[in-house]
Amino acid sequence: MGGILAEGLLRAGWDPGEVIMAARRPEQAQEAERFIGVPVVLDAAQAAAGRDVVVVAVKPKDVPTLLDQVAEAVTPPQLVISLAAGVPIAVFEKALPGVAVVRSMPNTPAAVDEGMTAYCGGSQVDSAALETAASVLAAVGQTINLSEDLLDAVTAVSGTGPAYVFLLAEALTEAAIREGLPHHAAEKLVLQTVRGAGILLATSPKSAFRLRAEVTSPGGTTASAMHTLEDGGFRALVEDAVRSAASRSRELGQEAAAQDQAG
Ligand SMILES: NC(=O)c1ccc[n+]([C@@H]2O[C@H](COP(=O)([O-])OP(=O)(O)OC[C@H]3O[C@@H](n4cnc5c(N)ncnc54)[C@H](OP(=O)(O)O)[C@@H]3O)[C@@H](O)[C@H]2O)c1
Repeated sequence: MGGILAEGLLRAGWDPGEVIMAARRPEQAQEAERFIGVPVVLDAAQAAAGRDVVVVAVKPKDVPTLLDQVAEAVTPPQLVISLAAGVPIAVFEKALPGVAVVRSMPNTPAAVDEGMTAYCGGSQVDSAALETAASVLAAVGQTINLSEDLLDAVTAVSGTGPAYVFLLAEALTEAAIREGLPHHAAEKLVLQTVRGAGILLATSPKSAFRLRAEVTSPGGTTASAMHTLEDGGFRALVEDAVRSAASRSRELGQEAAAQDQAG
């Protein structure tokens, strides 16, 4: 996700000289440097020192170790933007006293500048810092400012959301093949349907409910499919999946906070 954001910043017009990344494995650093085209160092503190904005894009379990590494290098008025799912702002603020911290939750369509990122500012964040964070995150798509207590739900909806759509695409492709369509045709039909439906939903003033109602004539083929999905518990299953992802996000945050306290 850090690489996706770095690439997005370059596409948005940032100079490669303005961006530096850190990795912890030499092969990872070389690969990132070659593919992204910005310097990648093996020392997170070196990468963070003196930068206006420091983005933390390690797995939640790696956050406490990373914060230990950069604690002396990151000081006010630097701004830290965390992408780590579930990790509370308090964990960052404890490790980096006085530093402005913005917690965010992006998603992978950021790779094509169609990301959705929710973010919230910590106790040291003023409106200028919040604006800076929003402009960095907006390099890869849309942003929304929400309170921190909503970010686990965001993780479960838009952070995890692309996977729900990919699973639907997988299942639809498999069903298309079982209906006799050749593999390449099944893939093409599904890809363009997901893309077209997404663009229609995003650009139409009509709600998802309305658009669905319009393609569902009573007694028709879509009505038959919708009944099968509803009778099979589709809605309840989606709700369970979102609840489970939100709960896992809270657990990850608690694990990171406990690890931080132990360390
Ligand atoms: N992927 C998503 O869809 C998504 C969406 C929203 C938010 N996020 C958040 O974004 C964060 C990154 O996720 P990801 O999927 O991009 O993970 P990832 O592919 O594992 O990338 C994290 C990278 O950070 C490196 N790293 C770990 N500790 C380090 C340290 N101390 N110094 C330098 N580099 C270090 C890791 O090295 P190794 O390869 O050696 O482990 C790895 O290359 C997570 O916190 C996740 O919750 C991800």
